[in-house]
Amino acid sequence: MKQKMIILCAALLFMVGIWGCTPPQPTSKRWYTPQQVKSGQPLYARYCAGCHGEQGQGGKDWDRPKKDGSYSPQPLNGSGHSWHHTLSSLENTIAQGGTHPGATMPGFAHVTTQAQRYTIIAAFQDMWGDVIYTKWLYRAGL
Ligand code: HEC
Repeated sequence: MKQKMIILCAALLFMVGIWGCTPPQPTSKRWYTPQQVKSGQPLYARYCAGCHGEQGQGGKDWDRPKKDGSYSPQPLNGSGHSWHHTLSSLENTIAQGGTHPGATMPGFAHVTTQAQRYTIIAAFQDMWGDVIYTKWLYRAGL
């Protein structure tokens, strides 16, 4: 009887574990429209590509601080950790630039409207595959 209970409990825990760890099904449904991507692409090319790369690939050794403690621009194509940030914090970074000590990214609030900054996000998020986009939705979201 006791043994049966233990097996039952173990089975239950196992099932809960599997259920809890199953990642959500990747979705292709995005928050932005194709029109926003189209508007954002030339802005991305103009203001961001010089540092973050034409394809959002980021700078060399972006995940390690340089000798002076500053960082290379992170990739924005989904391979970095920009999917850890909420939509509004991404928008804020673009408006204000880097805020932590030693940050070197300039802000773009003086040359872009908030709506334009959202189209820039649409442009680089459109480089993300569905798996990373869904991870973002669940971790940081809108
Ligand atoms: C002069 C180079 C430069 C330009 C231009 C630039 N960035 Fe950055 N960006 C950086 C650096 C360097 C960082 C890392 C934080 C820091 O040091 O400020 C960064 C960080 C970021 C982050 C945070 C990424 C993460 O994974 O945490 C985002 C998002 C971002 N930039 C978006 C943009 C966008 C969008 C543009 C264009 C509007 C842009 N950046 C233009 C250099 C730049």
